[in-house]
Amino acid sequence: MKNIAKSVLAAAIAMGSWHGINAEVINLTTPGTSLVLDASVGQPLRILYYGEKVADDEIPALRSSALYYRDAYPVYGLYPQGEAALSVTHADGNRTTQVEITGVETKQEGDATVTTVAMRDKVYPFDVNVNYRVRPGYDVIETWVDITNNEKGAVTLNRFMSGYLPVRYGNVWLSSLYGTWANETNVTEEPLSHGVKMIKNKDGLRNSHTAHGEVMLSLDGKPQENTGRVIGAALCYPGNYKLFIDTDDSDTHHFYAGINEENSEYHLKKGETFTTPELALTYSHEGLSGASRNFHKWGRDNRLHAGDKERKILLNSWEGVYFNINEDVMAGMMEDIASMGGELFVMDDGWFGDKYPRNVDNSSLGDWVVDTRKLPHGINGLLDTAKKNGVAFGIWIEPEMANTTSELYEKHPEYIIKAPKRDVVKGRGGTQVVLDMSNPKVQDLVFEIVDTLMTKYPAIDYIKWDANAPVMEHGSQYLTADNQSHLYIDYHKGFVKTLDRIRAAHPHVTIQACASGGGRANWGVLPWFDEFWTSDNNDALQRIYMQWGTSYFFPAIAMASHISASPNHQTFRRIPTKFRADVAMSGRLGLEMQPKDMNDEDRAICAQAIADYKKIRPIVQFGDLYRLQSPFDKKGVASLMYVTPEKDDAVFFWWKTETFMNQQLPRIPMAGLDPDKKYKVTELNRIDNRPLPFEGKEFTGKFLMANGLDIPLTYRVDYHKNTDFSSRVLRLTEVK
Ligand code: DGJ
Repeated sequence: MKNIAKSVLAAAIAMGSWHGINAEVINLTTPGTSLVLDASVGQPLRILYYGEKVADDEIPALRSSALYYRDAYPVYGLYPQGEAALSVTHADGNRTTQVEITGVETKQEGDATVTTVAMRDKVYPFDVNVNYRVRPGYDVIETWVDITNNEKGAVTLNRFMSGYLPVRYGNVWLSSLYGTWANETNVTEEPLSHGVKMIKNKDGLRNSHTAHGEVMLSLDGKPQENTGRVIGAALCYPGNYKLFIDTDDSDTHHFYAGINEENSEYHLKKGETFTTPELALTYSHEGLSGASRNFHKWGRDNRLHAGDKERKILLNSWEGVYFNINEDVMAGMMEDIASMGGELFVMDDGWFGDKYPRNVDNSSLGDWVVDTRKLPHGINGLLDTAKKNGVAFGIWIEPEMANTTSELYEKHPEYIIKAPKRDVVKGRGGTQVVLDMSNPKVQDLVFEIVDTLMTKYPAIDYIKWDANAPVMEHGSQYLTADNQSHLYIDYHKGFVKTLDRIRAAHPHVTIQACASGGGRANWGVLPWFDEFWTSDNNDALQRIYMQWGTSYFFPAIAMASHISASPNHQTFRRIPTKFRADVAMSGRLGLEMQPKDMNDEDRAICAQAIADYKKIRPIVQFGDLYRLQSPFDKKGVASLMYVTPEKDDAVFFWWKTETFMNQQLPRIPMAGLDPDKKYKVTELNRIDNRPLPFEGKEFTGKFLMANGLDIPLTYRVDYHKNTDFSSRVLRLTEVK
């Protein structure tokens, strides 16, 4: 076979136009990976290879190495026994589709190169364009599909996945995240065997409480953190999704990911195009951590809103005062966070409502006016107090929602999601309902909530955007009867449209995606949001597990992580402040408690943590993550580290996860350092009476990566201060 990969790509990039002839092999390369496709005109698109980077001249041999190759985007109809990525009912009722390539186009999108393989049905004017985006410097390839109906009438899309990847049958393990409210992102590891493993979501709004729309596939047996080949996949979509792996009799694990089509068949009118969400794929031979680093770097630089800006250290009012908001309490909290070195105060739920004051969770959503009984000087008064204290000010809203006890609902009952002839299904507080974002009037309303706040109070620095209800009944009062199945998808089209408008008008305000805790940790929302709330559970011990799982796909800069009170409000566990701080510092540090309830010693520990976090913030927020010892391995300890890209500075976290007398804990070799560099060790957040034996000592990266350091099992504090918890944060600075 003639190898024409380079020439096709080079010519295509130069011309930015369609290539109908000779478009055979496409080698989409990133610094470390290749996706090789056979895009021969007149044939369906085939995937030849995805993995370690291969040179163009290796492709003919590579091609000869397998017995057969799969379609890169399988469609339903002919030989319908297997699963398909696309299933369609054509305008005339024909349920079969058969596509062939009509051309390949390559175009520049800023720095990125987008390769589009255009396919058309053999008999219908029905087009399926499969797209691949490659960004220079990133080991992630984004793929998505544009489906266009040029037939005489409407076409129904029954399934419309974003992407498909065949993985050769073998000792392949799946790592996925599963949880629930206050216990998000538990890591599940399982070998793939015959049959279907499905991961799906049907919440409607919050798609990462239970299952997550991202997976890792370890190709060399049981997943390892820093060795072995791993394929990672992240579906960038905030709505209902479906990821499944069908392991059949053909020596293949078939991986599919896309919108969950259940109750969502989509009617495409003549001339309309349906664009699927993007599926981000990565490959690494450096284990799970390697794949995570690929996602982090790609996401921070290309997807996360303001991914290059350091995040502020904040105090959030929720667990400190819940709904008991008033001017004095807010002022006290601002003073307290300022005195501890914090940079931002966020006023949570409970500040709004006129006719219906928001005193508990059963009213007022939708009525975004200040409750002047609680805050006589309004938001401006709070902004003045923040300014006086030298901290920025943030505010909580839940714009996609209403309560039936609200002025908004009284005026516009037609704005909510509700099925005809059914009673309104209500959620939180017995009165919460969801606004129908498929309705352009609701989109305007949601835009105006944010726009009015930011226009009236431009000094607002941060918005916590919450969403505390799922779609509770399938019905849109806006969509026509024949398009009710569009609700889930059109909700998110409306949501994204509104977010686009908000960001165009207010590009600088930091916005957190919160959804009853970690319900919106997904790359589908992060282009508009700067971070997500990881969980409503701030228990430091449980957070080690949840943040571990979250870090598979999301960088620390986006993962809000707060020091909260002890006993913890969810688990009632008592954990010393030092341990709570050491856990929170491994993400985007914040506090969530009433500082007035802290004694002087705890306050000093928090102030110390804030000061120390400022030193390591660039390493945690922009560095490379190396996970070392998983809490899920139940070895009694968990550990990870962040290293700067230059490998001149690093921070090592070590947390004991259980306590037994004279426990035998493994010594943990480090990773990611430069073997030839020397690093000086400094303990951060130190509470011990005497320094650790290796404090101030210098070690080569080689030694630290081969051996690690022996960490004492307990703090070295006065007898009465001993606790059953123990943790360490060590900074490793290059000695020049
Ligand atoms: C749920 C969020 O997850 C909490 O942090 C808090 O903001 C409450 N909503 C407020 O109602």
